[in-house]
Amino acid sequence: MPTKYALLINGRPVSVEAEPDATLLSILREQLDLTGTKYGCGEGQCGACTVLIDGRAHRSCETPVSTLPGKSITTIEGLAENDRLHPVQQAFLDEGAMQCAFCTSGMIMSAVSLLNNRPNPTDAEIVQFLQGNICRCGTYPRILAAIHRAGAAKEARP
Ligand code: FES
Ligand code: FES
Repeated sequence: MPTKYALLINGRPVSVEAEPDATLLSILREQLDLTGTKYGCGEGQCGACTVLIDGRAHRSCETPVSTLPGKSITTIEGLAENDRLHPVQQAFLDEGAMQCAFCTSGMIMSAVSLLNNRPNPTDAEIVQFLQGNICRCGTYPRILAAIHRAGAAKEARP
């Protein structure tokens, strides 16, 4: 039976009505028009749908809405502050770390999650953390470079 849920998305309280097992991905895309989060496989295998829940990367295609009240959700649309891109977004642009860009928002959200806990990761740590994020265009070398660039920018900030 559809139920009302109070959610906090990108710092904004929103109310949605959905079946308890409706996925966060479907809520974002179909009810809230937050289409930066992509539908890839729909079964937790590609990472295109990655968002942050309480600062950590999660697959929104596998996250039921009923588990989300009281948690803080961040999507790609919530990263920039005013007109200023998040350092990871800027680094992806500066390194040209995308071709079709279908994987990009998921990659960026995973990278933000990694850098939140590990500001200066090694190549091996990046590869391990992002192994569930698939890029069919094969832009992995540029994605690695972008994450290193974002980490360095973060460390350089006072
Ligand atoms: S759409 Fe969620 S992991 Fe592929
Ligand atoms: S840039 Fe096309 S899937 Fe990654």
